[in-house]
This record gives sequence, structure tokens and C-alpha cells, in this order.
Amino acid sequence: MKTRARERDAQAIAHHYDVSNDFYALFLDPLMVYTCAYYRDPKGTLEQAQADKLDLVCRKLRLAPDETLLDIGCGWGSLAIWAAQHYGARAHGVTLSRAQADFAAARIATLDLGSRCRVEYRDVRDLPADARYDKIAAVGVIEHVGIPNYPAFFARVHEMLRPGGLYLNHGITHAFSWKPTSHTEFLTRYVFPNGDLAGLTETLTEMERARFEILDVEGLRLHYARTCRQWIERLEARADEARRIVGERVYRTWRLYLTCSAVAFETSSLGLYQVLLQKSADRTRGDAPSTREPIYDATAPP
Ligand SMILES: C[S@@+](CC[C@H](N)C(=O)[O-])C[C@H]1O[C@@H](n2cnc3c(N)ncnc32)[C@H](O)[C@@H]1O
Repeated sequence: MKTRARERDAQAIAHHYDVSNDFYALFLDPLMVYTCAYYRDPKGTLEQAQADKLDLVCRKLRLAPDETLLDIGCGWGSLAIWAAQHYGARAHGVTLSRAQADFAAARIATLDLGSRCRVEYRDVRDLPADARYDKIAAVGVIEHVGIPNYPAFFARVHEMLRPGGLYLNHGITHAFSWKPTSHTEFLTRYVFPNGDLAGLTETLTEMERARFEILDVEGLRLHYARTCRQWIERLEARADEARRIVGERVYRTWRLYLTCSAVAFETSSLGLYQVLLQKSADRTRGDAPSTREPIYDATAPP
């Protein structure tokens, strides 16, 4: 049975993500990635940068054929599908949004990927106690977890990883000396009812407390600023359709939220970090690569 806190989380997610798939499709890229893109070319397109971001995550995880991947908070299924399609992984995505899960299931069926990719409407906390994976990703999810829940969240991710397994956490942080502002109040009231951002050091501390070894930390703040700017441009270009789908109020709310977010990333009150973590079988570094070269060298094996 769901607790009241879980009901509230599910309602908060539905408030934001079940707005309408057609609305999100107006401004997201065709893969429907709803997190920071990765601009290898600083002037590149959103489409290319989102594909490059999915590759970056898979390569950091050193995803190999037939490995199992859990994508926590999989959105419209972009990473799970990419990992199955391009890396031969057996991917399992979970999302708290029914609209996202239905969209992802239809896309998986169209691509005939059902034998190695599935997406479910499910709270990650409701996965079976014995669920185990080679690799785990949570891209844009920590923002919904709530700081008091970090110990339980990271402990559960650690438990679900096989020894030696890798976990990639990609999430927004706030600056060290940040204080709540009217922007924060606007966001939690109208956009992300359960949003809760921590600082990077606080987040890393909780990861270490959960017995993860931190292998790599990469800041992508300016990549998120550009992503938000590109989302705004695309949304404004299709304003009439947006108004028809969600109405004037939601259209303006989302436009304002994306604009506030772009400014916050540009001025560094918000940050975006990818943290690569390992569940070490013992206290050694295992077989982790000693440089970042294999991540960026497209000819190197992942
Ligand atoms: C910002 S979206 C990111 C989606 C996707 N990872 C991407 O990069 O496009 C956050 C996702 O986290 C999911 N989520 C949040 N809390 C969750 C939970 N407790 N269990 C499962 N999914 C959750 C939401 O449903 C949503 O799909």
C-alpha cells in the first residue's frame, strides 16, 4: 500500500510531467530528453547535443552488450531506448508519470526493442527487494528525492548494484551560499511541488555515507544554460500550438520557469553535475579506467 508521502510524490510528478506529451514534444528534441544536453560543439543543435548526452552517460557507465541497466526516473524512455539500441544493454526504466510510461512503451514497440528494453510506471522504491543491476543511472531525479531522503535513496541504489557496478547521478545542485528566493517559491508552488535542491558537497557526502566510491565529478552548468535557452526558443516559436494544448496559464508558467532556470545556470546560482560512482567489491579501485580518454574517444571501446 502506498504511504501518504508516496501519494504526494506521485501527485507532484503528475502535476509536472503529465501536463501533456504533445506539449513537451513542442520544445524537447525528438528523443524527448528532459535534462541538460551535452554540447560537444558549443554552437551545436539541441538534437545533436541530446544524442551526445545519452552517449556520454552510456560511455561513463562503460555499458557493454547484455549488461543490465536500471534507468531511475526514465522520463519518456530516451536513455533506456538508446542504451538498448546502441549499446545492446538490457534496459529497465521506471517513471512516476503514466503519460511518460505509455509514450515510452509505444516507442519501444515501434522500434521492436521489447526483448531488451522495458519501461514501467513504478516508484523506484517499489522495485522488488532482490532487484539487481550491473549499471544504474538517475538523470534529473535527485531534484525530486528530497534532501532528508538522500540516505535511503543512495543506500537503495547501492543495494541494487552488483559488486563493482557503476552508478551515474546527473542532477541540479545549488551554489554553496545559495538562499531561497522568490524564484524558489514560484518553482515549488507552480512548477515542481516536490522539488528540493542540495549543494554538491552535501550530495557527495551522502553518496560516500552510502559507501559509494566517487570516481568522477563533471560540472555541466553552462550546458544546461544553453539547453534551457534552446527549449525557450523552441517553445516560443510554437506558442500558438502550446496555448491550444495547455492554455495560456501553463504556457506562461513554463516559459517563465525555463527563463528563470536559464538565468540561474548562467549566473551560477544553480549547477549541474554528473557524478560517477562505484560500488566497490572491496576498498580497491577495481577496473575503473585511470583517465577520461575512453569516455571521449569515440573509437575506444566503452
Ligand atoms: C526531469 S525528468 C528526467 C527524465 C529523464 N531521465 C530524462 O533525462 O529525460 C525526472 C524523472 O524522474 C521521475 N521520478 C521522480 N521520482 C521518481 C520515483 N520515486 N520513482 C520513479 N521515477 C521518479 C519522473 O517521473 C521523471 O520521469
